[in-house]
Amino acid sequence: MEQKKGYFITFEGIDGCGKTTQIELLDNWLKSLGKKTLLTLEPGGSDLGKNLRQILLHYDKPVAKNAEMFLYLADRAQHVNNVISPALNQGEIVLCDRYTDSTLAYQGYAREGDVNELNMLNEIATNNLKSDLTIVFDIDVQTAQMRLGKTKDRLEKEGVDFHTKVKNGYLELEKLYPERIKTVNANRSIEEIFSDVKKIVGELLNI
Ligand code: ADP
Ligand code: TYD
Repeated sequence: MEQKKGYFITFEGIDGCGKTTQIELLDNWLKSLGKKTLLTLEPGGSDLGKNLRQILLHYDKPVAKNAEMFLYLADRAQHVNNVISPALNQGEIVLCDRYTDSTLAYQGYAREGDVNELNMLNEIATNNLKSDLTIVFDIDVQTAQMRLGKTKDRLEKEGVDFHTKVKNGYLELEKLYPERIKTVNANRSIEEIFSDVKKIVGELLNI
């Protein structure tokens, strides 16, 4: 068995919470300190995943609940196997925009799937690879919706009730996994949020 040497950090939150902005700032900061990073995302972080992302975000006919779930899990299985694990084995810091907690929050808490079952399926898809740290960007649903603007993909088009369930799902997850999940208040300015991100990541990496 190869030994895992790197660090695995995931970014989570409702659509429009600002995590993509923050993950890019973090990537630049770590690179400026000479760290080797891999910036990636779900769905769509592998070659196969790019095709699955297209279906997941833009397929315009109804998608059965379990079909949606298995597509996200298929994307994750390929991503872990082909992209994330190899980078961790090279000692890289992997920064991933969404991971297993998105499935728990969206397919579990929001679409009312069974969270225990989803935990099991996530374990199969990832070979039980857990993040070392997950930062959840907690934001008011209305503020996030305003940031998203008018062009919305399949899940972003879901209403305020759906995104409120996702938001509350993340807060539940923080209670369940406090050792791994840290929540930051994302209603503030980009600079204020990033200062928290640097502090949390700095503690993990001893910088
Ligand atoms: P996500 O990846 O969570 O959907 P993004 O980082 O893409 O979010 O941000 C969504 C939009 O909000 C972008 O236009 C971005 O420039 C803007 N944005 C991000 N963070 C903030 C912030 N703290 N305050 C105001 N606007 C923000
Ligand atoms: P994306 O454009 O990457 O959204 P964002 O910029 O907000 O991260 O779209 C990913 C969408 O897929 C987002 O609405 C969340 C959803 N999703 C799930 O429902 N389950 C999952 O397991 C993952 C990874 C994402």
